[in-house]
Amino acid sequence: MKRSHFCNDVRTEQIGERVTLFGWVNRRRDHGGVIFVDLRDRSGLVQVVFSPQRNVDIHQQAHVLRNEFVLQIEGKVASRPKETENPKMDTGLIEVEVDSFVILNSSKTLPFLLDDEDLGENTRLTYRFLDLRRPQMQHNMAFRHRVNHTIRNVLDEAGFLDIETPMLTRSTPEGARDYLVPSRVNPGQFYALPQSPQLFKQLLMISGYDRYFQITRCFRDEDLRADRQPEFTQIDLEMAFVDEADVMEVTESIIKKSFSTALATEVKTPIPTITYAEAMEKYGLDAPDIRNPLTLTDITTEMKDTSFKVFSSQSSFKGPGGVRGAVKVLRVPGGAKLTRKQIDNYTKFVEIYGAKGLAWIKINGPWQEDSWQSPIVKFFSDEEKAAIVTATGAETGDILFFGADKLSVVNEALGRLRVAVGNDMEMVDPDAFGFVWVTEFPLLQWDNDSKRFDAVHHPFTAPMEEDLHYMEAELEEGVLPLHKIRSRAYDLVLNGTEIGGGSIRIHNPEMQRKMLALLSIDAEEADDKFGFLLKALEFGAPPHGGLALGMDRLIAIMLKVESIRDVIAFPKTQKAGCVLTQSPSTVDQNQLRDLYLRSTFRAKIEEKA
Ligand code: AMO
Ligand code: AMP
Repeated sequence: MKRSHFCNDVRTEQIGERVTLFGWVNRRRDHGGVIFVDLRDRSGLVQVVFSPQRNVDIHQQAHVLRNEFVLQIEGKVASRPKETENPKMDTGLIEVEVDSFVILNSSKTLPFLLDDEDLGENTRLTYRFLDLRRPQMQHNMAFRHRVNHTIRNVLDEAGFLDIETPMLTRSTPEGARDYLVPSRVNPGQFYALPQSPQLFKQLLMISGYDRYFQITRCFRDEDLRADRQPEFTQIDLEMAFVDEADVMEVTESIIKKSFSTALATEVKTPIPTITYAEAMEKYGLDAPDIRNPLTLTDITTEMKDTSFKVFSSQSSFKGPGGVRGAVKVLRVPGGAKLTRKQIDNYTKFVEIYGAKGLAWIKINGPWQEDSWQSPIVKFFSDEEKAAIVTATGAETGDILFFGADKLSVVNEALGRLRVAVGNDMEMVDPDAFGFVWVTEFPLLQWDNDSKRFDAVHHPFTAPMEEDLHYMEAELEEGVLPLHKIRSRAYDLVLNGTEIGGGSIRIHNPEMQRKMLALLSIDAEEADDKFGFLLKALEFGAPPHGGLALGMDRLIAIMLKVESIRDVIAFPKTQKAGCVLTQSPSTVDQNQLRDLYLRSTFRAKIEEKA
């Protein structure tokens, strides 16, 4: 068996040549005497012709061919008669006149047509091996390969070493639940699959392998969404003797080269940077889509004495960990034309994010002319109306949307509303790529349920020197103002999705212990869980930092597909299952016994009954 060409490589240059092709019957057409087959392989399609004039037997045998039969054909390349040329096909100017062929395999009738655009996700995933035959999926997989390869080259040229780290390891705290693997030879003990290679890459820096990278699988047991899978791929890197700018520069070189090679698109560098505080203030979210021109304005102070109590009550509301009330406005230029129904829909939309309402004002002219249309304008004094105009820059034709609640609720609700309205009103260029770095994330955030601080990035991220004094400051609302400590963490955001995150790390063992203590992890627990890191930090740890890009998300956005499932060959469903292989599944009792495990699941059901 020797292939001479891939189907899509047979062009006019080959006219007169003999070729040997392999592929699948994409479509068979019987044209009164002549049988045409579009033969398909990974590269694309070519038309092959079985004609009785050329060979009576061959033509006769071709009658059994059906879609997805697997063929080897030999024949001569000929130009197509003018009227049968197909400019939509790469190979549309030629056809292959078949002299001999072998049916390498037959195929049952497919459960769906490969060119059906409206297949349900479940069907596609159940028959993923067929779904992957579709040209779009073949393109996505080849594209992903191209980017992967490009990134490896960029990092290799920049002196990075590709070093593998264990999959059977112990828990790394990235904020999700672990996938656990029982150990047969250590009864009652478990490995955790890595949520990221975080601690190993830090150890590699301590070992002197300055400039590490790995394109590797990470595992997180968390609630799934279109851009989240239980196992996903990171482009993970770490460098010693660096600051934020060095890590960002390397990351930008990866991005730049990937976009130019795979998409022929130039990404302008340096990528703009905003601080977390600015992002929250202006956009309400820490992963802003900067292609969207809309912004939020905080008017808590302006509203502190208004007779609309929902608004005025916010300025006095305070809680531990920097919790405060706020009134913010989303100004939408040209939004006065929104209908009552649209406004009602947006009100329902913000309620998903915890908002208790969505006040609005249509600016139909100057407030002095009583031209504002709104359910709340009656509450405002002239001074308050003037203050709203000054703060927001509102002009005739705009609509203003208001949120009043805890700042975190207002930001989430109006931040999401900003995205929705910007998209609905076509203010966002769908073809553009909007990159932004978000820096100076808070180190810690207050968790009111557990009444303690959590790490925002992870517990190994370094605090900003100038904020360390908050560790010894006076209590606010009963707790240390640790939420004010900014960290040396940065995220890379593309079109409103976080595609990467990293930080400069703590390399001083005392500071690392202190950090764990701030997270209410006592010394004993710290030694138990992170003893190896704390010990390693005592043996000449260099300053270091790094980042990880989410490969699946990056590729999905580059290809403008809705879900990362479309760029993963064998993805899992929203319920973390693989419908193709039917995993996860129950296992044999003997397997469980070997692992010293017993499932309580059945017992639970019986208990409930
Ligand atoms: P982080 O947790 O921010 O950082 O993850 C880095 C990037 O990985 C992607 N990502 C995901 N992609 C698909 N499905 C998921 N469930 C998922 N979770 C995360 C995101 C994210 O930006 N160890 C640190 C990196 C570092 O500090 O160097 C880390 O894992 O695109
Ligand atoms: P009410 O006084 O409840 O009739 O509300 C008057 C207007 O204010 C309605 O448009 C509500 O949607 C809106 N509203 C009520 N609560 C809030 C809130 N917390 N934030 C923003 N708007 C609100």
